[in-house]
Amino acid sequence: MKINHISSDLKEKSKYELIEIIKKLEFENQEIKNAKKYGLVWERENAKEEFEEKSKNSYPVLQKVPEKEIVINSKKPNHLLIEGDNYHVLTIMQYTHFESIDVIYIDPPYNTGNGNFKYNDKWVELEDTYRHSKWLNFMEKRLKLAYNLLKDDGVIFISIDDNEVAQLKLLCDQIFGEKCFVGIMPWKKRTIKTDVPYNVSQDYEYIVVYAKPLFRAGRPIERKYYETDDFPGKPWRISDLTKQATADERPNSYFTIVDPKNGTEYPANKNSVWRITRETFPDYLQRNKIVFPGDYDFSKIKTPKMRIFKWEDEKKHGKDPTTATTTFLPQEKVGMYQDGTREMINLFGTKIFSYPKPIALIKHLIDMSNKKNAVVLDFFAGSGTTAHATMELNKSNGGNRQCILITNNEVDKETEKRLKEKGIVKGSEEFEKHGVCYAVTFPRLKKAIHGYITPDGKKVKGLGENLRYYKTKFVAKNYSDDDTMINITNSCSDILCIKENIFTAQIIHDCYRIYEDNNKVLAIQLSYLGEGLAPIRNYLASKDDNVKKVVYCFSFGNEVQVEDIDFFSGIPNVVVKPIPKQIVDIYREVSKKWSI
Ligand SMILES: C[S@@+](CC[C@H](N)C(=O)[O-])C[C@H]1O[C@@H](n2cnc3c(N)ncnc32)[C@H](O)[C@@H]1O
Repeated sequence: MKINHISSDLKEKSKYELIEIIKKLEFENQEIKNAKKYGLVWERENAKEEFEEKSKNSYPVLQKVPEKEIVINSKKPNHLLIEGDNYHVLTIMQYTHFESIDVIYIDPPYNTGNGNFKYNDKWVELEDTYRHSKWLNFMEKRLKLAYNLLKDDGVIFISIDDNEVAQLKLLCDQIFGEKCFVGIMPWKKRTIKTDVPYNVSQDYEYIVVYAKPLFRAGRPIERKYYETDDFPGKPWRISDLTKQATADERPNSYFTIVDPKNGTEYPANKNSVWRITRETFPDYLQRNKIVFPGDYDFSKIKTPKMRIFKWEDEKKHGKDPTTATTTFLPQEKVGMYQDGTREMINLFGTKIFSYPKPIALIKHLIDMSNKKNAVVLDFFAGSGTTAHATMELNKSNGGNRQCILITNNEVDKETEKRLKEKGIVKGSEEFEKHGVCYAVTFPRLKKAIHGYITPDGKKVKGLGENLRYYKTKFVAKNYSDDDTMINITNSCSDILCIKENIFTAQIIHDCYRIYEDNNKVLAIQLSYLGEGLAPIRNYLASKDDNVKKVVYCFSFGNEVQVEDIDFFSGIPNVVVKPIPKQIVDIYREVSKKWSI
């Protein structure tokens, strides 16, 4: 309703009609006041996803695929490849990895209208007027869940191109908060192309970076310290004694330093004077902070230098000092798409996957977090570059980073059309064999782990780490809450293995399960009747004191029953936790938000 529409004929209105009009205006006024004033607005109604309907009456769980497990060395990291819709897996991860991920890298569909973004099982075309809204809906749900998984010093890198970069930036500001914006890193993806719209070749993609408040990027500073007899137990290094200031600017620092041992004079340079002053020099000298030429046989210095002790560096910069990094991505270091494609050809002999990122690019990003034991997550895994990069980084600069990859088993648009023409239907075994996880991600990681031979005969050594493969599965919700809890408990063992990072089954029994890896035991009691506790106790009691033991006991509530805890008293190093109420509560919490 617009005021100028009303005002002309207000005189003819009755008192009651006028009251109605005022009420309406008040309501509209309130609506305008409540409306979002700044930021991103998009249509939500027309863009519900199919999985929301599908998952209405069930809860997602994970199930191990034993025939696709690759175990090379139990001391090396266990990487996870999880096949399924990332929304379901991110939901499960609210339980397994809440605030425990160090680095997230994602490369979501760019929504170019070119057969790369599927929504509700349909490719989103360029002409679709809800194109951006669908994409935003899709991304919002997933990014909100992903945010919860980041540690308080975690970081997320999101690859995107010109189509959605503006929308993505505003969406992330909304989800993560503007304060968490770290920067946008332009990545040169190719050399110039001709025959392009407006005659302008879009040669860059962007990596949008957000982080939790305690994140600090950086490269380790590697400093050379000397250990000398005159300063036992006090390593030191040499640092410059001059500064970028002229004699006119700093007259007190423009003076001649004299070596008291032999009288040698070192006049100041009038364009870069000493860092210390005439007055402070004696104090520095007395504190052994000045190193003169000839003081040590190994030093080749020609002018006096500053001595900095290691303890001084540690006091100022901490034990692991780092230098700042930059949003600049040097092409010779991180490569372009052609390098990613070459890597795929080396692995498979053919192109097999369109636009894989170069391994070097992802290594560079993961390394920015400067954590050797980082847990890395990619929930749009595609060909699996992130896991390949994680393993290569572990090899090249040491560390035990673990990578969690999530991907659906999407069949690309062209192949889908071809299979349809042949009468091969979606869901059939033959169709699924052409999906990305089946045909690309898993075989790629298998080759990377075991080693492979390139088309020109070069032997590439395997990276020798481990891979655990899981698929999503659904557990029906039951009318009775208790039955739902029992169903979830019977299907959550693999989720608990992932949560505890313990995978090797020792005993699989109807009432209980035991897993053990590297001095850590995971025991799961499945029976709501209390069966299984005695054999678990016996198993744990046979283990050394230093073995870490975690027991999950069935409980209808949020606490483990007191008698169950008492049952394990006297066993060293044991923690007893309840299942499955917490899992069910998390699912309920997330599913409330499914209807945005
Ligand atoms: C742009 S590709 C990622 C490429 C990857 N960075 C690489 O280097 O190979 C995006 C991938 O996300 C997958 N994907 C799309 N929607 C998904 C969803 N809802 N859940 C899981 N994976 C999805 C697609 O199958 C596609 O392979």
